[in-house]
Amino acid sequence: MRTDSPVTISRQSYRPYPFEVTAVHLDFDLDPASTLVTSRLSLHRKEANAPLVLDGEELDLVSIKVDGQLLDASRYEVGEHGLTIHGLGQTVELEIANRCSPQANSTLMGLYVSNGVFFTQCEAEGFRRITYFPDRPDVMSRFTVTLRAAKAEFPVLLSNGNLIGQTDLPDGRHEAQWEDPFMKPCYLFALVAGKLTWRESRVNTQSGREVLLQVYSDPGNENKTQFALESLERALRWDETRFSLELDLDRFMIVAARDFNMGAMENKGLNVFNAAYVLADPDSATDANYGAIEAVIGHEYFHNWTGNRVTCRDWFQLSLKEGLTVFRDQEFTADMMATGLDETAAASARTVKRIDDVVTLRAAQFPEDAGPMAHPIRPESYQEIGNFYTATVYEKGSEVIRMQQTLLGPDGFNEGLAEYFRRHDGQAVTCDDFVAAMESVYQKTHPGRDLSVFRHWYSQAGTPRVKVDMRYDDATRRCTLRLTQSCAPVGVERLAGIAVKPPLHIPFSMGLLDADGKALPLKLAGSDAAASDSCLLELTTETAEWVFEDIPSRPVPSLLRDFSAPVIVEYDFSDAELALLMAHDTNAFARWEAGQQLATRQILAATDAVRGGQPASLSDSFVEAWRSVLTATDLDAAYRARALALPAEKTLAERMTEVDPIALATARDHLRAELGRRLAADWQAAVDANQTPGEYSPDPIAAGKRAMKNLALAFLLAGGAPQAEAQVSEQYASSKNMTDRMAALSALVNFGPREAANTALADFFERYQSDPLSVDKWFTLQATSRHTDVETVNGLMVHPAFTLRNPNRARSLVFQFCLNNPYGFHRPDGSGYRYWAEQVLALDRLNPEISARLARAMDRWIRYVPALSAQMKQALEDVRNHPGLSRNVTEIVSKALE
Ligand code: ARG
Ligand code: ZN
Repeated sequence: MRTDSPVTISRQSYRPYPFEVTAVHLDFDLDPASTLVTSRLSLHRKEANAPLVLDGEELDLVSIKVDGQLLDASRYEVGEHGLTIHGLGQTVELEIANRCSPQANSTLMGLYVSNGVFFTQCEAEGFRRITYFPDRPDVMSRFTVTLRAAKAEFPVLLSNGNLIGQTDLPDGRHEAQWEDPFMKPCYLFALVAGKLTWRESRVNTQSGREVLLQVYSDPGNENKTQFALESLERALRWDETRFSLELDLDRFMIVAARDFNMGAMENKGLNVFNAAYVLADPDSATDANYGAIEAVIGHEYFHNWTGNRVTCRDWFQLSLKEGLTVFRDQEFTADMMATGLDETAAASARTVKRIDDVVTLRAAQFPEDAGPMAHPIRPESYQEIGNFYTATVYEKGSEVIRMQQTLLGPDGFNEGLAEYFRRHDGQAVTCDDFVAAMESVYQKTHPGRDLSVFRHWYSQAGTPRVKVDMRYDDATRRCTLRLTQSCAPVGVERLAGIAVKPPLHIPFSMGLLDADGKALPLKLAGSDAAASDSCLLELTTETAEWVFEDIPSRPVPSLLRDFSAPVIVEYDFSDAELALLMAHDTNAFARWEAGQQLATRQILAATDAVRGGQPASLSDSFVEAWRSVLTATDLDAAYRARALALPAEKTLAERMTEVDPIALATARDHLRAELGRRLAADWQAAVDANQTPGEYSPDPIAAGKRAMKNLALAFLLAGGAPQAEAQVSEQYASSKNMTDRMAALSALVNFGPREAANTALADFFERYQSDPLSVDKWFTLQATSRHTDVETVNGLMVHPAFTLRNPNRARSLVFQFCLNNPYGFHRPDGSGYRYWAEQVLALDRLNPEISARLARAMDRWIRYVPALSAQMKQALEDVRNHPGLSRNVTEIVSKALE
């Protein structure tokens, strides 16, 4: 247990490492109870006199040799955080032997055992839990690895790169030798050893090299890895065609782990994945699961260039690889969704992907950026880097890359990326190096301009606001748009007393519609560019104006098309204008946005009514707007499913001055029920029109139909349609795929009669109890049900299938209850908050990284109604005052209370 007081590390304190570690040979005698690691380092001094400081945690040192001689104890010190060796010469061969205990490692960082298989997770600072080493990304070395283990228990021995030898040894042991031809930092090291099966294929790369692709899983799952392998092939092809980036290895492996802290890890040539992002078949995986598998496989594969070939100088630069790689995986998914469709359908598929990404950004990143953990995509300081694998670094980081693509154009962006690799292949670099490469191209196409204002996106936290003022002059037929940006200090900025923040470079895409909803051709005063329907305004100062000419009458503006920047737009639309945009905007994203805004207004008004004890009512025009999308024949099912979904609770909460979560959830449920009731015939028609008979396929067209049908079913059931319960129960019982089965079960649990729900839940467990990923779904459904309170959750925690040690299982119940169950978690008696504190502490003893994620459920406590926020604060204090808290959780709860 860590007891030291938290140390803040700041970006400015970066110093190069005083030694080069040119080669590393790692030798493992794998034993679950105690593994012997012998590490041979070839060191080259770069700075006179500096001692060699190696990181190391929870290791037992066995011996140290320098150039073959045992090192005298007077020459080194070993402590809780590592090993310091004095008086080393210019070039040294250092050999360190140490032991670690994989079986006892519940943190899942470093070397651990899951389901009888050895795995490693080294990013960010896990390698130091394996052996003593400079555990930082700017120390890059050539690795060779020898793995030794009992052959019967651990028949498969994997590490990075190429297998160069495998031999049987006496006593039933065997060994394998691996060599990675590329220099890499230690966070990209991996080993896997155990009983595994695999599926493989051989493909030729662009330049004609044959490569071996493999997907490994526990025995018995070989029929669930086909989609993953196909996704890997698609990712390989896509990076070749979109960015001319080719696989640089002869062999690329993916291994599924049951116990894994995050989604997956891009170790060179040996990606380790959370099994949830590998295993799928129609009976157990939903459309969303298939989509997530393809996205994460793409993401990790793309890291091979953006992360591995060019890596980060230090962890403050994390977004250099993560923001860029999320951007790449989002583009990959969008291209895959659009493949094989005609132009209109392809455009709609891309918009659907954009909507899904923006929904995530708003529900996860916007609240983060307004709360106690707010940080720039390139943080200025941290106490525990594990706490900075955030929506800001990942998702906002991706938006910042996307804006660069918008400003440079797709070709310019590709050129900038090529320049980045020309300059930095094989190096550990900074975010600024990336922008400099992009800027070199931008300056060629935009003479006299640069990205100096744009760079502030890397140093500022907070979601900027862009206020829009529109003036129209009948006499001159001119329409003037004024944009004004602002970004209030948040989180650490506020604590540091920062009051003014420089303006950002904001690409703002917009259009104008006439009173009939027709797109107006945009002609900017003083520009000779041909008129077009859409215009990209570049706001680089606090405020700026643009004048459009020949506008026949006061138009309706269509703002922030395609979400061209991660900002909040402020403009006073009337309901009628929003309805017009929702019905006619030629930009499908803005059209969706208008509907979401209309729904937001309705739900927030209903929330006020609920709080005031008044009946919540729904405006007829809103119902008609929903009906028109529901019955529109020019919109595909996937798009309509997004346009008709209600805004997320977390996004709505950010709009309230004081969050009353139960009133909000009640109002949102009421709105769903009312829309269900008043549009019952149309919902039923949508159910009937969107059946997907025949063999299951997770393709976007079929998935879109299922999404539309299942949304309609939920509205119908919530609205009390008499035929709905039978339909939903029938779908639960007879469906041949998990998407439909889960949707039916979810509708029953949330909106159906209790007995029907309980019967179906029991049946589900019976049917799927041997499949861990399905059991996770079963826990999640109950954790998020409006009928579940702390007592119910505690009952589920003693279910034989529950364990806190498996992160997926902990997430499926504990996290889901605390994060996604407004009724149960926010009970006025505070029982949810006390439960949260207990679970944070229990998890912290096992796995600090996971515990710290749960700790963040309280991030926004200060915004809740006083009766709740006082109790939330109490729970936070109880956790903070607990002795022996990890550094991870300490950072989160103390920032929340600052
Ligand atoms: N680089 C990984 C990815 O995004 C994430 C690894 C984070 N690991 C951790 N223990 N925080 O693909
Ligand atoms: Zn990543």
